[in-house]
Amino acid sequence: MDPHISLILCLLSALGFCSCQNELLLNGPLNGTVGGSVEFTLINPPSAPPFRIILSFSGNREDIIFTSIGGVEDIHADYVDRISVDKTTASLELRGLTLNDTGLYTVRISFISGGVESQGETSLTVFERISGAAITSTDGILIAGESSVILTCDAQGSIITRGWRKDGNPLYGVNIDELNRTVSISPVKKEDKGDYTCQVSNPVSSETVSKGLIVNYGPEKVNIMGEGAIEIGSPVHLTCTAESVPESTYTWAFNGTETSVTGASYSKEPSEYEDSGTYTCTAWNSITKHTDNAVFKLSVKAQGSLGGAGGLSDGAIAGIVIMIILVVAAGIGISIFLWKKKGCQGCLAGREIGTKDTPHQQLSR
Ligand SMILES: *[C@@H]1O[C@H](CO)[C@@H](O)[C@H](O)[C@H]1NC(C)=O
Ligand SMILES: *[C@@H]1O[C@H](CO)[C@@H](O)[C@H](O)[C@H]1NC(C)=O
Ligand SMILES: *[C@@H]1O[C@H](CO)[C@@H](O)[C@H](O)[C@H]1NC(C)=O
Ligand SMILES: *[C@@H]1O[C@H](CO)[C@@H](O)[C@H](O)[C@H]1NC(C)=O
Repeated sequence: MDPHISLILCLLSALGFCSCQNELLLNGPLNGTVGGSVEFTLINPPSAPPFRIILSFSGNREDIIFTSIGGVEDIHADYVDRISVDKTTASLELRGLTLNDTGLYTVRISFISGGVESQGETSLTVFERISGAAITSTDGILIAGESSVILTCDAQGSIITRGWRKDGNPLYGVNIDELNRTVSISPVKKEDKGDYTCQVSNPVSSETVSKGLIVNYGPEKVNIMGEGAIEIGSPVHLTCTAESVPESTYTWAFNGTETSVTGASYSKEPSEYEDSGTYTCTAWNSITKHTDNAVFKLSVKAQGSLGGAGGLSDGAIAGIVIMIILVVAAGIGISIFLWKKKGCQGCLAGREIGTKDTPHQQLSR
């Protein structure tokens, strides 16, 4: 009924011109879960217990759920075990909800037999709880620029909304269907790698699932690092890098001829003048089957021609080696000293063997 009309009717009623239906206010719209329960309550409860209460339902069927007239109750057979009615407040608890309970609920009360009736209604929507959410993906290894992928998000239950995120951020720049059920990426780019999450929700539940996407690419940006000029005798040491998923494997060529060196680093020691020339590192990605290479020019110069810049002189290396030997020897000496001081309690034989075979003896030889 139009609220304005009811208001006018009520005013007329108050003035004693007619009787009219007073509005009851019910909570809601309500959301329920299959198997769960809801409570319909009046926001403006009656000031005294009503003489007559009628609770009815209208959905995919019409039921008079409950009547109480002058204390005589009647409960619809389908509701016997699953309702509780508070006859003072005219509130209704409905348990064991099924999807069929979705609909409109009406409360009508009056205070005397044949008296003015007040009425209110509200709606209930029952949802199945969401479960078993999962993201499935089209099979196969993804290669940047070559492959496509479709991710599908599904779950059981009453699905109302789905939402996608990538690495925690809203998902942009890909094709998402109207229902947000599938995400299509064609072709995949290396930036598409990451963690995709799908959140499936309805008003009573929500589930979030995620799936990691690996995109193979490269090699790209192959680069050789090392000294471009070295003195004869010092080591040749070059390192090759490339951006690649998975990690690339490397081969090396010198002056255009394949060498037996594999791996990211190329070393040779000591260097000779013939080591001057062109080094080529070729990176190969076993998944993308792509290769790329980098070229590096090395020149081996005469001793002293580089003014001591870079690298360690033979003298310095010898100095370091001697230092290490001294430190190790001192360490051994201290250990033996402490061990002897502590002694080998109660075993003379052990002590003899000890003095015979200690590293100290070997050192002093
Ligand atoms: C029921 O769900 C709808 C839609 O999400 C929401 O607007 C409404 O507030 C919910 N009702 C209650 C009582 O939580
Ligand atoms: C819901 O109603 C339909 C037909 O109206 C019936 O076939 C079905 O069994 C009912 N489901 C439940 C859970 O009561
Ligand atoms: C689809 O996702 C967008 C963005 O997250 C969201 O605004 C929209 O409500 C979703 N639609 C459905 C049907 O889930
Ligand atoms: C490689 O090429 C450089 C420059 O062309 C040359 O000086 C060097 O001797 C070459 N080395 C060998 C082993 O061929």
